[in-house]
Amino acid sequence: MALLLWALTLLGLVGVGAGLRPRKLESFRSETELNHLVVDEASGVVYLGAVNALYQLSADLQLEQQAATGPAPDNKKCTPPIEASQCHEATLTNNVNQLLLLDPPQKRLVECGSLFKGICALRSLRNISTRLFYEDGSGEKSFVASNDESVATVGLVSSTGPGGERVLFVGKGNGPHDNGIIVSTRLLDRAEGREAFEAYTDHATYKAGYLSTNTQQFVAAFEDGPYVFFVFNQQDKHPARNRTLLARMCRQDPYYYSYLEMDLQCQDPSDAQAPAFGVCLAASVATTGAGRVLYAVFSRDGRSSGGPGSGLCLFPLEEVHAKMELCVPCGWGPRPHKSFPCGSEHLPYPLGSRDGLTATAVLQRGGLNLTAVTVTVENGHTIAFLGTSDGRILKVYLAPDGTSSEYGSIPVEINKRIKQDLVLSGDLASLYAMTQDKASLAPPRTAPQGRAPVTLSHDANETLPLHLYVKSYGKNIDSKLQGGAGAGWGAPAWDAGSH
Ligand SMILES: *[C@@H]1O[C@H](CO)[C@@H](O)[C@H](O)[C@H]1NC(C)=O
Ligand SMILES: *[C@@H]1O[C@H](CO)[C@@H](O)[C@H](O)[C@H]1NC(C)=O
Ligand SMILES: *[C@@H]1O[C@H](CO)[C@@H](O)[C@H](O)[C@H]1NC(C)=O
Ligand SMILES: *[C@@H]1O[C@H](CO)[C@@H](O)[C@H](O)[C@H]1NC(C)=O
Repeated sequence: MALLLWALTLLGLVGVGAGLRPRKLESFRSETELNHLVVDEASGVVYLGAVNALYQLSADLQLEQQAATGPAPDNKKCTPPIEASQCHEATLTNNVNQLLLLDPPQKRLVECGSLFKGICALRSLRNISTRLFYEDGSGEKSFVASNDESVATVGLVSSTGPGGERVLFVGKGNGPHDNGIIVSTRLLDRAEGREAFEAYTDHATYKAGYLSTNTQQFVAAFEDGPYVFFVFNQQDKHPARNRTLLARMCRQDPYYYSYLEMDLQCQDPSDAQAPAFGVCLAASVATTGAGRVLYAVFSRDGRSSGGPGSGLCLFPLEEVHAKMELCVPCGWGPRPHKSFPCGSEHLPYPLGSRDGLTATAVLQRGGLNLTAVTVTVENGHTIAFLGTSDGRILKVYLAPDGTSSEYGSIPVEINKRIKQDLVLSGDLASLYAMTQDKASLAPPRTAPQGRAPVTLSHDANETLPLHLYVKSYGKNIDSKLQGGAGAGWGAPAWDAGSH
């Protein structure tokens, strides 16, 4: 199966003077399924994590370097290093990329796969083939990602505080052969007798109260000032319910005293009686005029009463902090347990805030899922790019009054889900999206009518808000995408009439 990565050039977003030249962006095809995508803002280099491979690409998706990460003899039950004499059931196993993160200050990349109990490596940003650290003989303490391909792992690289160590914060669900840890803080450099990827302290791991497997699906990790956040879905058994939780902890917290969880709910605006959307599929954070906001897309499955559908909900981090701040401020040093003012029966932790945040979706769509979200603010206008399960990227203007309007839709690949890693380049000129299978190319939509949120015309010949340049392997379907709006292309049927 051909697996393609698409890069979209968003001229409509580029500041005056930049990006006037139509840039020719290529697509990149991986032999194996693509799992993760990150872009180095400084260099523009794109890194891809795929099954059994890592790729380093130029900003226009030309292959610069690649490294094989699998397959290798393994068995989920065996402790690496795998030796045939110790692990009789080892079979050639694919390595699914579970985590791909940049550490620009240290010019390195963190990469963890499903192979060998989810151990990780550090690689050079300059040359992804150069492995800076890899150790498969450290045992349990080095198991970071889930070794179950279907269990998501999320993370972020940061420091414990100003001048503090570089660390990796990891959130993951629990596969049948995982170690039960769902959140952990990992060293990235050797310190005090600890190797890279070991827990930052003996206490810097958190096991879920629910030890049964496949309970949590992690969706996103992000930071905000002194805090680290995780978004995950959790299937509770008693009482039976599906929840989306937001966990927060202090970056500097060797004891995990600050770990807190809170429910997030996204309500369907069209039907107040309908149950809230049940599952969060993607989330990201952006800084708007009104402060930092968490944007999360939720779905409900077809069996629920409202039928299949999805929505975008906004959670201002100020509101999140207001709920949580009462409980635990971030600070230094051990915090006396008795000062928990939130009064939960689960003390000392996790300190569940039972009344979480409920938002009403600012945009909802029936019959499809929103599968990716990235948000940018340009000239004070908040623009969300939303990937869909039917292979499009919706361009949505989010007005300060809480309303939204979809003013464009980029067909990427019909009926192929846009994967979660939807990334804008540092200069906001390109949007990188991953899908599967081969695409047929449809032209982008014409400029939005009426309340166009962004300045769309940068030069006299530029009438489209957005250009899409795609070339598939060996077959250039790039052709003429510039030109007058609607110059003989005709919007695809499913793209017309959206608002
Ligand atoms: C990157 O590293 C690989 C393996 O060490 C080497 O073969 C290759 O030449 C390097 N590439 C560059 C551009 O330095
Ligand atoms: C929760 O989600 C799972 C998986 O989608 C589903 O099988 C289960 O029925 C849901 N449970 C509830 C209580 O909605
Ligand atoms: C949308 O997401 C829900 C929840 O993950 C899933 O049950 C459903 O099959 C998805 N629908 C589509 C069209 O992708
Ligand atoms: C616009 O198109 C005209 C005719 O093709 C060309 O002469 C002119 O240089 C173009 N302007 C810009 C800014 O590209």
